[in-house]
Amino acid sequence: MYMLTVVDYLASLFVFVIGLVFLALVVLFVIDVTQTKHAIRKNFPVIGRLRGIFEHLGEFFRQYFFALDREELPFNRAERNWVYRAAKSVDNTVAFGSTRDLRPPGTLLFVNTPFPVLGQDATPIHDVTIGPNCDNPYVARSLINISAMSYGAISKPAVIALSRGAKLANCWLNTGEGGLSPCHLEGGADLVFQIGTAKYGVRDEHGHMSDHKLREIAAHDQVKMFEIKLSQGAKPGKGGILPGQKVTEEIARIRGIPVYEDSISPNRHPEIERVSDIVDMVQHVRNVTGKPVGFKTVIGSFEWLEKLCVAIKQRGIIHGAPDFISIDSADGGTGAAPMSLMDYVGLPISESLPTVVDLLEKHGLKERIKVIASGKLITPAEVAWAYCAGADFVATARGFMFALGCIQAMQCNKNTCPTGITTHDRRLQKGLNPQDKAVRVANYARNLTYEVCVIAHSCGVRGPREMNRSHVRMVTEGGKSVPLSSIYSARPARVQLHQQPVTSKKE
Ligand SMILES: Cc1cc2nc3c(=O)[nH]c(=O)nc-3n(C[C@H](O)[C@H](O)[C@H](O)COP(=O)(O)O)c2cc1C
Repeated sequence: MYMLTVVDYLASLFVFVIGLVFLALVVLFVIDVTQTKHAIRKNFPVIGRLRGIFEHLGEFFRQYFFALDREELPFNRAERNWVYRAAKSVDNTVAFGSTRDLRPPGTLLFVNTPFPVLGQDATPIHDVTIGPNCDNPYVARSLINISAMSYGAISKPAVIALSRGAKLANCWLNTGEGGLSPCHLEGGADLVFQIGTAKYGVRDEHGHMSDHKLREIAAHDQVKMFEIKLSQGAKPGKGGILPGQKVTEEIARIRGIPVYEDSISPNRHPEIERVSDIVDMVQHVRNVTGKPVGFKTVIGSFEWLEKLCVAIKQRGIIHGAPDFISIDSADGGTGAAPMSLMDYVGLPISESLPTVVDLLEKHGLKERIKVIASGKLITPAEVAWAYCAGADFVATARGFMFALGCIQAMQCNKNTCPTGITTHDRRLQKGLNPQDKAVRVANYARNLTYEVCVIAHSCGVRGPREMNRSHVRMVTEGGKSVPLSSIYSARPARVQLHQQPVTSKKE
């Protein structure tokens, strides 16, 4: 009797649910045929809605079910997996054979020697001093560093994890243009303070650079260098508006702007309109802070750099030169940027890095001005290439985002990052444990360094800083490869300025 009642009840419920579904479909049908905005929904009522749903879900599932290992952009699965495994410090070998097509023009191949360097003969990674003539030169220790990402573009736990991880790995963390937050300082890592066009963190009430604030920032021992941002690869010549609702009391305090008011970043530093202004600002910030100062830019043309080199020499190499130049690739990342700038403006690092290095060499400035390269240099081969081309340091933003657990969901411009890295939604941030992720950040930096060394040894040199353009070849049209030194000039062997060895992992 009891069983019959339950069955009756379930049957009625079933009919009711089916009725509801039918009713919902009728309502959707009526909405679709009467609306005028979407042609697909009007022509294919109800079913047309599936297109939007699948398109949305495709963003998440494509990478798991459909994309091949080497297929996706900006980073394919092979690259991402390499970083994930390095960050977890698990076995990073692969089986059976390469899935990389070695034939397309532009493919890079390293030149191995029959006589690789034996483990015991390998040299440790050496320190390099940036701004040796400053009051406080910076002795940088790591081959790989954390590129600019501002507090605001990335979340609090993400910045804390990066700052702790950078400390563990002995690399620097660039603050990005959003000012210096307590989270940056938390881990005790070396910091590069970035001066964006809005001068966040070092501005007076009128938005001009404040020497007083510069001195306050420089007084932090952790802040080792200042980087004037001229442009970044993803959005050259683009400023931005920070909407008032995002200017919380904390953000306002860190950036030095009024609470809950829109804040505008101009699309260039108003006081920099010619090359001599770059030199002026570099000298000014260095005089005020006593610390090394450089600038970051994505390269479009090279003429202005020629003029800059001439201006530097007129002022004197020691006092007129920036201590470093950060060159960003046109395909660099960001939180949000117009697609037209991301896709079409600026040169990729593959061309800009060797050309800038040659130019500095031609003007006798290469030893004085250190070159920091960024832009999709996240795996050992890419980093090794940059050292062959003449970089003094490599920095990566998205490499370290992957180490933090980024799944390339491409949602940095929304508040919905599923891994808690670029969102301010507390619920989503819960998954990002700074303690755990700091270890991954450090593992990634160490394992990347280790494998760059492995490539160097295979090429017959004792360490990455000894690599040059004869150690890498590029496949050309027709399938034949030529050394990079035949495309760009063959660089002389590097002079090791500082012989203070820092032992790299496993060596
Ligand atoms: C979320 C995010 C925020 C960024 N914020 C800044 C910034 O504040 N200032 C800047 O110069 N570059 C910024 N960048 C660019 C990176 O510093 C870097 O130059 C670029 O992503 C290329 O390096 P990658 O390919 O290793 O990511 C940002 C990049 C990302 C992904």
